[in-house]
Amino acid sequence: MKNNVYIETYGCQMNFADTELVMGILKSKGFDVAKEIDSADIILLNTCSIRDNAEQKIHSRLEHLKGVKRSNPNAVIGILGCMAERLRTDLIEEKKIVDLVVGPDEYRRLPEFIDAAYGGEKGIGVKLSRTETYNDITPYREDGLSAWISVMRGCDKFCTFCVVPFTRGRERSRSLESIVTEVAQLSDRNFKEVTLLGQNVNSYNDNEKDFSDLLVSCAVAAPEMRIRFSTSHPQDLSDKLLYTIAEHKNLCNYIHLPVQSGSNIILEKMNRTYTIEHYLDIIDKARKIISGVSFSTDIIAGFPTETEEDHKMTLDVMRKVRYDGAYMFKYSPRDGTKAYEMGDDVAEEIKAKRLNEIIDLQQQISWQINQELIGSEDTILIEGTSKKSDDFLAGRTDTNKICIIPRNEEIKIGDYVRVKINRTTSATLFGDLI
Ligand code: SAH
Ligand code: SF4
Ligand code: F3S
Repeated sequence: MKNNVYIETYGCQMNFADTELVMGILKSKGFDVAKEIDSADIILLNTCSIRDNAEQKIHSRLEHLKGVKRSNPNAVIGILGCMAERLRTDLIEEKKIVDLVVGPDEYRRLPEFIDAAYGGEKGIGVKLSRTETYNDITPYREDGLSAWISVMRGCDKFCTFCVVPFTRGRERSRSLESIVTEVAQLSDRNFKEVTLLGQNVNSYNDNEKDFSDLLVSCAVAAPEMRIRFSTSHPQDLSDKLLYTIAEHKNLCNYIHLPVQSGSNIILEKMNRTYTIEHYLDIIDKARKIISGVSFSTDIIAGFPTETEEDHKMTLDVMRKVRYDGAYMFKYSPRDGTKAYEMGDDVAEEIKAKRLNEIIDLQQQISWQINQELIGSEDTILIEGTSKKSDDFLAGRTDTNKICIIPRNEEIKIGDYVRVKINRTTSATLFGDLI
């Protein structure tokens, strides 16, 4: 039986969670996980379309896989995820080596498509669904410390630059009960951290139950676990959510709140549906309600019509908020989106220059914030040995910062330990056990 599956995952955490879902589906039908590509009968790429460079990576990966297919002509090669949804039959027509193209809402049919592919048939499943949440499917997860759970799928926001509403379809939430059960199971397996995922978790809705209700249920079901979540859209972030985070110790004091731009003119063209004033109000309120809360963000440089003045406003917001971290991107036009029709009128060099200024500023801010932590104490969750040296252990603070401490034989992975910070860089804290 040819049933070893190798999956490579690209893109956001939701794609990584989907890969576990796909393996859950395939395992229940008798397929197995291949650890190495060479021992695989089926090679799947779970892809991302968010920016052009994400898609280019897959195109070059497929070039490379031509060699694999030459040495193993029976191998089935499939494209999953957002690129499958966006490019559909084009992928099969242009790339002779691709046998199946399956979008995010059709993963239940994968076993059927793989069987057909063995019979030489190309498989395409790219229908989007208004209801599919894979509620009843248990994702396949190796043992570990940290897990992701998608609590909702799709997105209804239609930011004008973004492909996600087209590749993932309409927004829909999983049932609260099924999520809480999964969290409790992870807790029983000794997982110590879970991140609840959605493109816009703040609009989670399961009959009358909102995202704050979901967080409380998870926090109570697994008091030993840290509960994180991503992503929050500023429009739907409620006071109730802030008070909920403040009240429960195991709900992490860390909010990823993408701002995208500091200019109201650009925010409006992006259809972000908030003003910078509203955004800054949320930050102020959160800081009052949740002591020690930290923020990260996403920023796009060079959106159509962005002027030097707009760009300066973005830098200005970064200085006002002082983010702990940021994901920063050059605008990438995506065919089919509203922004695509606005043209791509900021020259590449200007985009690059602005992006560099944003990155430099963020690095200064992160460095300063971390410097201010020297001498303070915190609790970290030990994740493993430091990547750079076996003599050190790496852990993470509630606020999502990596902290390195000297190795100590009494400390195990998964322990919570108190540390005092004694040295920092812009990306890492160094501490000693208290
Ligand atoms: N749902 C999340 C973001 C998902 S995509 C949210 O709304 O915050 C992650 C990030 O990719 C976005 O926040 C945005 O900063 C960036 N992004 C999305 N489309 C992009 C594009 N066309 N060009 C450049 N960056 C983009
Ligand atoms: Fe894209 Fe906006 Fe939805 Fe985020 S909220 S996934 S940026 S459309
Ligand atoms: Fe990419 Fe799709 Fe996630 S476009 S960022 S994999 S939702």
